[in-house]
Amino acid sequence: MEVKTSLLDNMIGVGDMVLLEPLSEDSFIENLRKRFDHNEIYTYIGSVVISMNPYRSLPIFTPEKVEEYRNRNFYELSPHIYALADEAYRSLRDQDKDQCILITGESGAGKTEASKLVMSYVAAVCGKGQEVNKVKEQLLQSNPVLEAFGNAKTVRNDNSSRFGKYMDIEFDFKGDPLGGVISNYLLEKSRVVKQPRGERNFHIFYQLLSGASDDTLKKLKLDRDYSKYNYLSLDSAVVNGLDDAANFRTVKNAMQIVGFMEDEVQSVLELVAAVLKLGDIEFKPESRCNGSDESRIKDKNDLKEMCELLGIEQSVLERAFSYRTVEARLEKVSTTLNVAQAYYARDALAKNLYSRLFSWLVTRINESIKAQTKARHKVMGVLDIYGFEIFEDRDNSFEQFIINYCNEKLQQIFIELTLREEQEEYVREGIEWTNIEYFNNAIICDLIENHQNGILAMLDEECLRPGTVTDETFLDKLNTICAEHQHFESRLSKNSKFLTDHSLPHNCFRIQHYAGKVLYRVEGFVDKNNDLLYRDLSQAMYKANHSLIKQLFPEGNPGKVNLKRPPTAGFQFRASVGTLMKNLQTKNPNYIRCIKPNDKKASHIFTDSLVCHQVRYLGLMENVRVRRAGYAFRQAYEPCLERYKMLCKRTWPHWRGPAREGVEVLMADLPVPAEEFSFGRSKIFIRNPRTLFFLEERRRQCLQDLATLIQKIYRGWKCRSHFLLLKKSQIVVAAWYRRYAQEKKYQKIKSATTVVQSYTRGWQARKLLRELKYQKRCEEAVTTISAFWHGTQARRELRQLKEEARNRHAVSVIWAGWQGTKVRREYRKFFRANAGKKIYDFTIQRIMQKYFLGLKSTMPSMSPIDKSWPARPYRFLDGVHRELPRIFHLWRCKKYRSQFTEEKKAVYEEKLEASEIFKDKKALYPSSVSQPFKGDYLEISTNPKYQKLNSAVDEKVLLADVVNKINRANGKGTARIFLLTKKSVVLADQKTGQVKASVPLPDLASVSVSTQSDGFFALRLKEGSASAVKGDFLLSSEHLIEIITKLHRTGATAADSKQLNVDISDEFLVQFKHDKVCVKFIQGAPKNGNSVSCKRKNNRLLEVSVPTTA
Ligand SMILES: Nc1ncnc2c1ncn2[C@@H]1O[C@H](COP(=O)(O)OP(=O)(O)OP(=O)(O)O)[C@@H](O)[C@H]1O
Ligand SMILES: [Mg+2]
Repeated sequence: MEVKTSLLDNMIGVGDMVLLEPLSEDSFIENLRKRFDHNEIYTYIGSVVISMNPYRSLPIFTPEKVEEYRNRNFYELSPHIYALADEAYRSLRDQDKDQCILITGESGAGKTEASKLVMSYVAAVCGKGQEVNKVKEQLLQSNPVLEAFGNAKTVRNDNSSRFGKYMDIEFDFKGDPLGGVISNYLLEKSRVVKQPRGERNFHIFYQLLSGASDDTLKKLKLDRDYSKYNYLSLDSAVVNGLDDAANFRTVKNAMQIVGFMEDEVQSVLELVAAVLKLGDIEFKPESRCNGSDESRIKDKNDLKEMCELLGIEQSVLERAFSYRTVEARLEKVSTTLNVAQAYYARDALAKNLYSRLFSWLVTRINESIKAQTKARHKVMGVLDIYGFEIFEDRDNSFEQFIINYCNEKLQQIFIELTLREEQEEYVREGIEWTNIEYFNNAIICDLIENHQNGILAMLDEECLRPGTVTDETFLDKLNTICAEHQHFESRLSKNSKFLTDHSLPHNCFRIQHYAGKVLYRVEGFVDKNNDLLYRDLSQAMYKANHSLIKQLFPEGNPGKVNLKRPPTAGFQFRASVGTLMKNLQTKNPNYIRCIKPNDKKASHIFTDSLVCHQVRYLGLMENVRVRRAGYAFRQAYEPCLERYKMLCKRTWPHWRGPAREGVEVLMADLPVPAEEFSFGRSKIFIRNPRTLFFLEERRRQCLQDLATLIQKIYRGWKCRSHFLLLKKSQIVVAAWYRRYAQEKKYQKIKSATTVVQSYTRGWQARKLLRELKYQKRCEEAVTTISAFWHGTQARRELRQLKEEARNRHAVSVIWAGWQGTKVRREYRKFFRANAGKKIYDFTIQRIMQKYFLGLKSTMPSMSPIDKSWPARPYRFLDGVHRELPRIFHLWRCKKYRSQFTEEKKAVYEEKLEASEIFKDKKALYPSSVSQPFKGDYLEISTNPKYQKLNSAVDEKVLLADVVNKINRANGKGTARIFLLTKKSVVLADQKTGQVKASVPLPDLASVSVSTQSDGFFALRLKEGSASAVKGDFLLSSEHLIEIITKLHRTGATAADSKQLNVDISDEFLVQFKHDKVCVKFIQGAPKNGNSVSCKRKNNRLLEVSVPTTA
């Protein structure tokens, strides 16, 4: 939705001075200050824009701002120069009205910047396209060129335009720019030869010297040093923030864009150089014999260089500086020039040269930017011209007079056009015209420009008058002719009122301009008005071999000698102002009044006195008064109704009828006197700003109430929607919770039901089961009973049947026996007596054959320990059956033995020997059968632990084992290494390997062991042998069977006896030193974990308790 805004919204002070209440100079300035302090540099007086120079860049000229103001109504947004530019452009494009934008103000007030802003705005909003852009670019680029040649640094403005400029921009019917025409007014040419203190010559001189390349300067015969040139004041030659070198490049570039040819640019620069050179030409006096004073050029070098630059013959110019030829009718009179006249002539030439160059530049630019089509076009003129100029500290001279005259004219046209516009609007709107009281400055314009007795006319008259003409004679003339004029003041006028006015010097006159009184000093008026250039000089220039110079001095053409005096400056200016006014009158005016806030070129400083001064000289109070003369404010019915409809219940919130009726109803409803407003055709007119502010205030209050109402409704709506949302959410939450709770409850009930059901079902099932079981038992009982019954019955029946069958069989056997007996008795005589024996033998033979053949497949395995043998089929084969296994076993044993190696054979022999010794004699034997005889259990030869022991025994060790040596005193065992070699038995300490006893085998008498499963054995020594000193050894070993067997075999060999005796008995005697002790083996209950215990009972008895084996 488009938001309608208004100038009245967010106003700082008042945006339109017309609405200022109360209207006074103070309130006017206060309003400007207030707005300026808030960076609001633009304020309206109706459609006039007052622009304050901010002296700093503000962010209000951005492309976004351009868009903001584009196609918006003038009063819709806060005041802006863009609003004015937009209004002007749109009325030009849409209403086909030619426009002019008149920008006035003091030097440094921002006129040139304002004109550029207007042009850039129009360039931004108008059409686009290659051709259009080129035109736009050329129009915009004409500015830097003209500024370089026409602007200079002054005490008031670093970039002061020293000429007036009016530019007509031409548009086609679509509003696209086609081209333009520039007019220039009154270039301040005196600046070329002399600049006031603190000011500079035109920018181009400095730009050329600092920005041109060395090569260019050489060509132009120039030196970069400013101090070489008399025309360049060294004062402020360098300006802060002004880069002359860069600007020179910009200017050259701009000239190129505008369409200057290379040689044209070169010619222009040559002329600029020539002006500088001209300034350096100096003269010295020389007296002639006829008594007259002549002048001579001091140093002809500069003259020479200048002449070379412009292609002028040096002697021609030299002569022109020395003589002045006056032609009257057919007479030619030549007079010599003295030094002062020569200098005058030089400066006049320099000024003319430069000002004509400037005019040529304008013409040349116009040539480039002129519209290419002849079609009718619309025009927007932009006038950037000095505002009212008045120097308090300096003399106001001819220039100020001319400028102020121009401003009088502009004011006149402003009043005329404003009133006309106002009147037209009243007529258009059907409002009764009330006469407006205002000051008409026509009288002042008349004082200046009247053809008969106007000041300019009198000045011209004086200039043309033969005889001595001075500024004083001119003032006298004024004093005589204008004495009675109410706006003319002079000390020497006939008006006695000023005779004693000391503020009015004798050589001055004062004019009461519409904007205030200005005191002019007459000195220089005549000269400046004459603006004389001696004909000799113009002719010398015409002779130059330089295309541009020739063009600039057409009057020097000897073929077109014009004896008439050239028009005076005043005359020319009046004529061009006249043309300008005519031009402006055909256009719709738009005013921009520029004000500078301070003299220091500083931002944020607002000097009341300075602003007040400008407000007066710009006639702004007058502007406001004229604008307010009828009705201060007017507004179309639609926006008015839209803005104030809330003030009346009938129009709020909607008015259905026509807007005008709505406004009428609205106004009737308000306590506003009827004379305060009038209804036009499309607008309401409000007489006093008071009334408008009353409406605004009521609107503000109403808006506050409405805002409260809207807030109230909104808050209510918000709370309600929030509540509804909460309610809805609560319902959802509750529903979900209920569902959840019910689900839980249902699940509980369901599981409870299931439990109850399961119990019930279980109970029912058990009941049923019980019943079924009972039923089944009954059925089973019945079945059993019936089975028993049937069985009894069946058995009884079977018995009967068997009885019957037996009886029948007996009968048949008896019958068969009787029959057989009968048959045998009958056929016995037919059998041979020996047939039975043969059959018997044959049968036996067959059975034997069958038996042996059967054996072949059922033979047991070849393992000697396999004891199986197939069963005998017939009892009569008993003998065979016993003999055959024995034979088979012997055979397979033989077979088995034949596979043995020698070692294995020795092992088996030992085993066999063991069997022979112990089988069925010692209970330990059976358990030893399956144990292989390992011999060296300690691996004595390889174990490094027993290396010492091994070396101590020099024989091959047959057996090495750990045995327990039974202590003779208490029967306890001590571990000893038992070694058996072919020659001896060695007992050694188990830990140290130290030999404890070594018994040569021949010393062994016998070995005694028990019949039981223990491992005790006694080595009984032969009495009287060396070993028997300590007595016999009682030892025990796990490998008893092997030890004894090995001892048995080896000992026998060693002792050269058949064998070593092995006594197997549970009681035997051993010799312990001197005692013979009986070792008795008893069987006892297992003690100490099934081990054998040995105890010395007394001197004679050692009891070994062997646990009974199950
Ligand atoms: N709108 C603006 N924003 C920022 N600075 C500005 C603006 N207008 C003017 N100025 C500053 O003020 C200086 C003087 O402005 P400008 O040259 O437009 O004055 P002028 O009225 O044309 O003076 P003169 O009559 O001497 O030519 C500018 O150089 C610029 O620094
Ligand atoms: Mg300017």
